[in-house]
Amino acid sequence: MSLFITFEGGEGCGKSTVMRLIAERLSKDGFEYITSREPGGTPIAEEIRNVILDKKNTAMDPRTEALLYAASRRQHLVEKIWPALKEGKLVLCDRYLDSSLAYQGGARNLGIDEVLAVNSFATEGTFPDLTLLFDLTPEQGMERIAKNANREVNRLDLEKNEFHKTVRASFHELAKRYQDRYVIIDASKPLDAVVEDVYNVIMSRLKK
Ligand code: TYD
Repeated sequence: MSLFITFEGGEGCGKSTVMRLIAERLSKDGFEYITSREPGGTPIAEEIRNVILDKKNTAMDPRTEALLYAASRRQHLVEKIWPALKEGKLVLCDRYLDSSLAYQGGARNLGIDEVLAVNSFATEGTFPDLTLLFDLTPEQGMERIAKNANREVNRLDLEKNEFHKTVRASFHELAKRYQDRYVIIDASKPLDAVVEDVYNVIMSRLKK
């Protein structure tokens, strides 16, 4: 059974680590799945990612940024996500459309509906079936990033605390707007507990 699952949240929320552990568990349980991430996921989309996240590109206009994310998303859908869903696989994706709505629509102030319009063109209306929102205060997120020396710091990490607070508030707004597909995960819990919660949510969705 195909299911498109996205992992969303602010910086340092742990979604990428949890996604990796969930994937290992799904393998053990015999599920067919792919994992991917945005921006990126395919060679062309990864090239666009490098332009977006390059620390040199401080002059990037917010609308340019939104369009580049949407462009990379389109390529990713065409080359990777749609084919996997067609083959009946689970798709686990680290960030997708909702990141654009929260970061560009909310925090960059372009407006959620405006950014949704650009993304409707890019995605032809492909929404996730399930969106897991890893919820954490920006302060807790930044503390985790500071402790994790291996993680690369990108242009968006360097934004001020206010920006990250707006990202979180925007994700909460989206969770209200899209109640059918959103599940809020308490990302402040210990890693094992978060993995358990996420696994249970996915299993209950698969039974529906
Ligand atoms: P990444 O290094 O993948 O960070 P993370 O581990 O937090 O996912 O960088 C992705 C950055 O791009 C992150 O700061 C969120 C941002 N982003 C947007 O602003 N809009 C988008 O549509 C997407 C997919 C990501």
